[in-house]
Amino acid sequence: MIEKSKILTAIGIVVAVVISVYGIHQLYIQHEANRIDKFRKHAGFYVLKQDVNKTQDGGFVGFLSWKPGKKEQEEPLSPVIRELKVIFKVDGKNECQFKITDIEDSRFQLPYNEPFPFTKEQGQESKLERIFDYKVSQVGEQFYFELFRKSSGQTIFSTKDRPILFTDKYLEISTEMNEEMIFGLGDRRTDFQIKSGRYSFWNADAMWIDNGTPGKSIYGYHPMYLRREVIENNFHVTLFRNTYGLQVDYKQNQYLTYKTIGGNLDFKFFLGDSNPENAIKLYHNYVNGWILHPFWVQGFHQCRWGYKSSDQLMEVWDKYNSLQIPIDSLWSDIDYMYKYQDFTIDTERFNLTQMQTIYNLSNPQGVHWSSIIDVGISIEEEGAIKGQEMNIFIQSAKTKEPIIGTVWPGKTYFPDFNHPNSTEYWYEGFVNLTKYGLQQDGIWIDMNEYSNFVTGEVGKDESTLVNEIKTFFTSEKPNLPFNPLEVRRLDHRTLSLDAIHYSGDQAVLVNATKNYTITQYDMHNINGFGEGLATYKAAKRLGKKLTFILSRSSMFGSGRYVQHWNGDAFSTWEYLRLSIPSIMNFQMYGIPFVGDDICGLALDATAELCARWQQLGSLYPFSRNHNGDKYSPQEPYAFPKHPYVLSSTIKTLNVRYQLLKFYYHLFVKGNGLGTIFRPLFWEFPGDEQSYQHQFQFMLGDYLLASPVVYSGNTFTQKTKHCVYIPENSLFFDFYNYSPIQGGDHCFQVPFDAVVPMYIKSGKILHLQDRKNTLRSRFLDNRFTLLIALDENNESSGSILTINNYNEDDNIIQNCTEQQNCVANLSAKVNSKSGTEMEIEIKVNQAAASTNFQEIIVDKLIIVGIKKSESYKFKIIDMINNPFIINKDGSELNLQFDL
Ligand code: NOJ
Repeated sequence: MIEKSKILTAIGIVVAVVISVYGIHQLYIQHEANRIDKFRKHAGFYVLKQDVNKTQDGGFVGFLSWKPGKKEQEEPLSPVIRELKVIFKVDGKNECQFKITDIEDSRFQLPYNEPFPFTKEQGQESKLERIFDYKVSQVGEQFYFELFRKSSGQTIFSTKDRPILFTDKYLEISTEMNEEMIFGLGDRRTDFQIKSGRYSFWNADAMWIDNGTPGKSIYGYHPMYLRREVIENNFHVTLFRNTYGLQVDYKQNQYLTYKTIGGNLDFKFFLGDSNPENAIKLYHNYVNGWILHPFWVQGFHQCRWGYKSSDQLMEVWDKYNSLQIPIDSLWSDIDYMYKYQDFTIDTERFNLTQMQTIYNLSNPQGVHWSSIIDVGISIEEEGAIKGQEMNIFIQSAKTKEPIIGTVWPGKTYFPDFNHPNSTEYWYEGFVNLTKYGLQQDGIWIDMNEYSNFVTGEVGKDESTLVNEIKTFFTSEKPNLPFNPLEVRRLDHRTLSLDAIHYSGDQAVLVNATKNYTITQYDMHNINGFGEGLATYKAAKRLGKKLTFILSRSSMFGSGRYVQHWNGDAFSTWEYLRLSIPSIMNFQMYGIPFVGDDICGLALDATAELCARWQQLGSLYPFSRNHNGDKYSPQEPYAFPKHPYVLSSTIKTLNVRYQLLKFYYHLFVKGNGLGTIFRPLFWEFPGDEQSYQHQFQFMLGDYLLASPVVYSGNTFTQKTKHCVYIPENSLFFDFYNYSPIQGGDHCFQVPFDAVVPMYIKSGKILHLQDRKNTLRSRFLDNRFTLLIALDENNESSGSILTINNYNEDDNIIQNCTEQQNCVANLSAKVNSKSGTEMEIEIKVNQAAASTNFQEIIVDKLIIVGIKKSESYKFKIIDMINNPFIINKDGSELNLQFDL
């Protein structure tokens, strides 16, 4: 009895403490918000001290000084920095930078060179042709800066009549908005078009949906937006080049305000035209482009957290093989490690001989091994001692020892990827893993926000929390005047903000200036980027040619080194739907090879949801079924009472593998710039309706897919589904070649189906007969051309002129190293007499340097042939007399009867 009452009292105390801490915390936040508002009301403003100095590139440099407001002294905000420098740089015809900084430009910021995004020199001529101009305030009046597009007068950015505040740890700037649409501002799970709201930027291990309420940021930091301008409907991209905690307060048609807790007010603008892809390509060029993955990664992947032994992996592998489900990689989540310790394998549960069988690529059934590495290093593993010797862990400000958090293995240290030894340390970890005689083909880096199951660090108890909050209340110069998350502390489930990073001048990422001590406060949003870079370097050193590193956390510029998936998803229809805008977002962020957990990670997936998700996911750039620990199985065969899950998965993966080389070719052709998985309006920016259809997407400018994303009738096993085809456009059904024109088209889609998909008229697509191939490496070198004619009976496309996609070297030498392996295809159909027709196909090298390895076309499917007011199609089998594409420049002329 006594025991019980003691327990109850203890629970009571804990609850009371939690409630009171939470209450105080809320009060504190309110207090801070009021304080900043009050300050803003009474604050003064910056003025230009003298006329700006014009620079040769067409920009300027100026100096600002602060004119205090009358009541300002009464408001204790961390002090305004009174003297500032303002720079406007013309970087090229359609690219510029606007920056406000301290006079010496000495504050913590990302360097303007590799591995970080930087401006690529464009030459004076391009600068003189600039398509934008600016206005700046007169000396003495409240400072403002306006950027506008010359041709239309459209404002791109204007701070006029809006406050600019620049203190050490609170900076604010706003721009005017006007009848715009904006997209981006990630990482977050939300609708594609950004609605009015307050958006937080602070990398977090979280899976919520964000509709514009503070505290809902997730894993990555991408403070860029793509905006459609109201005048002439051109597009531009604005990047806020900052890495600190940030909140963007957006009111459509009115303003967009940035409130950040450090760094500078530093912006890059990229002015495109009426095709959004052009603005995005400029942005991608700035963030150093994106990396190409190996071909096998384009195949299908099976994963789950909870494959606890090699026996279990064997079972999954056997099932895939016996049921003839295409697959290229079977993954290992944390289960494979010994006590969740990085770079180890629990060889008791994971029999190495069994593993070597599954992952033996010389065996036709072998699959690639992709496995997880978490960023936290167990304090019990060898790596902990080594890391201490090499001094590479982030230090606690309290203990001056490596900071301790808690992740899967229990207590962990965290590598500081700013430390010069960290690259070597991380590489040696991967070397350790090779000692088990297994090749890790795909590297999955997780929990790298960094995620920590305790707030701040182990040993920081709740009373510290109360004390800290009290300090904020009473301090004259509080060091955190604004919390971009509002509803939660910044160190919630991550590291203490005062934890110390390497601050010398040999830093891997950012060197400190003026004896500044770099802390987690500065580095938090860069952590994941740092791990990605170290992993990339390790993979390269280990001999990987094309790398595949799947990173949960990211930052602008990450796409140069890693690929990404959207992180944790609930197994619900809403998460299935929102996976689509999330994938579109990462196209903009410059990480186009991205996917979502097919069938969802958390909660039990229903058969219907899983079938629809397999269908949709078969068209994701990265296609992986992944499940959480403890949830019911969701492999495609895991629903025996609902056989449609399996049958539709096989059908839809068949389509993926038919298109696998085509899909991969979009990435090779992009050559590090541009998007692959696109919103509808990308192709039809003038069609207002297409902006409303965020759950339809296009693969390149070839295919329009309209997945079923709502639940249907479980009795009839069908869902009523509507496809929107943009006005004045013509597509053809990918499966039965019938035409479909602008407007809404509704029909029933059985659960046991593939994704409704359409090829755009005027495009030539190359596909392959999978011929029962279950691995990408066995796809042959024979293609079918699906030729969709336009109104002039013409069509065009492209194809890679390589015959071996499995050797990374072949791809690198022929395709990526400033060489070219793309050939352009064009086709024209002419009507001869009566039923006689003729098709002419030409192959042109895309560049003078195009390399040709022989490829074979043994089938044509010509669709959209106009005959007596209707569209016909013709299949021409050329198996015995194929069309060979090689360096001799090929042409085909073929007569056929319709
Ligand atoms: C979190 C990741 O987001 C998830 O995909 C993974 O399964 C778990 N960590 C366990 O490693």
